Order: sequence, then structure tokens, then C-alpha cells
Amino acid sequence: MPEEKIPVGDPVKGAAIFKQKCTQCHVIDNSGKHKQGPNLKGLYGRKTGQAEGFSYTDANKNKGIVWTEETLWVYLLNPKKYIPGTKMVFAGLKKKGERADLIAYLKEETLK
Ligand code: HEC
Repeated sequence: MPEEKIPVGDPVKGAAIFKQKCTQCHVIDNSGKHKQGPNLKGLYGRKTGQAEGFSYTDANKNKGIVWTEETLWVYLLNPKKYIPGTKMVFAGLKKKGERADLIAYLKEETLK
């Protein structure tokens, strides 16, 4: 299968999508605090399962990939398919534009 081209996303739109779909379980800040899901500060460019003090499943911890545009693109389409056994309850983001926007936001915000 040829590699899918990831569209250029808009981080401002991505922030709104994050607020709507992710803040129930995730924050991105320096508090070191987690919600149901891990604090996503520092996520981009880091290996799976590295948020300090968060109790991940082995499935998430041992996935062992680095979070980049390419891996987030596949993960956020269908988290349970990419990481079988994850405890993240999220059906996935089917719309390519929305996924691209969200990833553009994550890239900026998690590295601030
Ligand atoms: C119902 C709660 C919930 C929602 C909604 C949710 N997540 Fe999660 N997320 C989790 C949990 C719990 C984990 C840890 C999974 C594990 O350990 O198996 C996680 C893990 C992750 C990871 C892997 C983190 C790492 O350090 O490896 C990423 C990336 C992520 N979520 C992004 C998102 C994004 C982006 C959204 C919004 C589209 C979202 N999540 C929505 C609960 C949620």
C-alpha cells in the first residue's frame, strides 16, 4: 500500500477539536497531573508510554513507536486497532481534515 499523504493541518482548528474530543481525558500542561488519560506534555517525538506517574497498559507502554505525524495519523484513526489492548476509549477520528488539524495542534502544543 502506498504511504498516505498527510494533509497540512490548522492548529487553531485542531485546538477546538482537542477541546471537544480529548480534554475529557487529557490535559497538555506542566502540572505533571493526569486525568483518565496521561498528560500529553512532551508527547510529540517521544516514545509511547513515557508520561511520568501515569499507569499505562503494557500494550501502550510496549508499543515502542515514536509519536510523529505518521504514527498519530494511524493511531487517531482507530486507537484500538493500532494498539490492541489500550484502555483509551475513543472510537477514532475518521475525517482526514480533522485528524490533520488535531495533529498540527498536538505538534505545537505538546512541545511548547
Ligand atoms: C475516555 C478517555 C479518553 C479520551 C476521550 C481520549 N483519550 Fe487518549 N488516552 C486515554 C487513556 C486512558 C490512555 C492510556 C492508554 C493505555 O495506557 O492503554 C490514552 C493514551 C493516549 C495517547 C498515548 C500517550 C503515550 O504517552 O503513549 C495519545 C497520543 C492520546 N491518548 C491522544 C488522545 C487524543 C488526541 C484524544 C482526542 C482525539 C484522546 N486521546 C482521547 C484516554 C482517553
